[in-house]
Amino acid sequence: MESTLAKLAYQTFQQGKSYFGLTHKTLSTQLRSLVAPPAQERIKPIETRTLLKFRERLNDLLDTDWKDAENGVYPSALLFDNPWEDFFRFYPMVWLDMPSTWDRANNDRFYDFGPGVKTEGYPKYYARTFHNQTDGYLSDRSADLYDLQVEILFNGSADPMRRRILAPLKQELTKAGIPNAPQTRVLDVACGTGRTLRMLRGALSEVSLFGTDLSPAYLRKANQNLSEIPGELPQLLNANAEALPYRDNYFQGVTSVFLFHELPAPVRQAIINECFRVTCPGGVFVICDSIQRGDFSDMDVFLENFPAMFHEPFYKNYTEDDISGRLVQAGFEVVETQVHFASKYWVARKPAEAGVTA
Ligand SMILES: C[S@@+](CC[C@H](N)C(=O)[O-])C[C@H]1O[C@@H](n2cnc3c(N)ncnc32)[C@H](O)[C@@H]1O
Repeated sequence: MESTLAKLAYQTFQQGKSYFGLTHKTLSTQLRSLVAPPAQERIKPIETRTLLKFRERLNDLLDTDWKDAENGVYPSALLFDNPWEDFFRFYPMVWLDMPSTWDRANNDRFYDFGPGVKTEGYPKYYARTFHNQTDGYLSDRSADLYDLQVEILFNGSADPMRRRILAPLKQELTKAGIPNAPQTRVLDVACGTGRTLRMLRGALSEVSLFGTDLSPAYLRKANQNLSEIPGELPQLLNANAEALPYRDNYFQGVTSVFLFHELPAPVRQAIINECFRVTCPGGVFVICDSIQRGDFSDMDVFLENFPAMFHEPFYKNYTEDDISGRLVQAGFEVVETQVHFASKYWVARKPAEAGVTA
């Protein structure tokens, strides 16, 4: 009875997020078409049966999310973890920010940053306004709005998609005899505002957690978000993942969520090589990112629309990239790939006998 009620509460919570995201997008699209219509319509229409399939896959994702909590992969409280305070504080700012977002999008101004934003020293591929978001990844204001914008974009499914790394990570750590204990180190590469680290803390309460990201502002936000939860505070470091500031073979587990679609192909390989270097022999690497072309062929239209609507210059190349091949090239063995709704997962292991060759 208790479990049935909790499941109902979870479904209602997710449905609320989904309707909220849809309503927000409908209203903002209507407003944009009135005040700042794009010069040309860049997106392809989506058929009703594709939308129905989309909804079915979203429901499958939520079912898996619920079942993983029920099976003890993580506490069910994680299913309801939501940054409410940020939502009430920053949602009005999402609306206030929109006109400048549309203006940049309509005029292809991908390198326009606000006053005071320092872009020197960052790689060229990075210092740009990804998704047309104000200041790219380089201001506190952007970090404050990011989680809210992502949840709206994915109709409330971003966290359920992130949580899909937890079951394979725990399973592979257990298989390798790696305990949920402080001597086990797990790194989240490109941790952003720390959403995945919060989930990792829930699923692996005792391990030592580390996070790294190129954005000082996002790390500041991550520090704030992670300070709110019980357990040891993860160690956060500001660094380019192309040159991770850790010793060889240091981590038993490495994860990365929603990073690779924002990188040029050679940088994808360089970062995978670095992840290989810092993973210990027998250790596990789990990637979560967007689905790729052909994973669900009826969803390919979304893969075309996404970079047409948002500034995502490397996304098309990513959707056609052979990430498993890159993992193997670095020295990993690919244990499995999974696809859930709009996201794809690669679970890889560094062979027990491996040295650092990448
Ligand atoms: C789409 S966000 C994903 C953030 C987070 N993992 C999540 O799930 O929300 C991409 C993140 O990658 C970071 N990033 C991009 N290129 C990077 C690089 N070369 N090294 C480290 N971080 C990078 C950005 O600063 C940003 O926080």
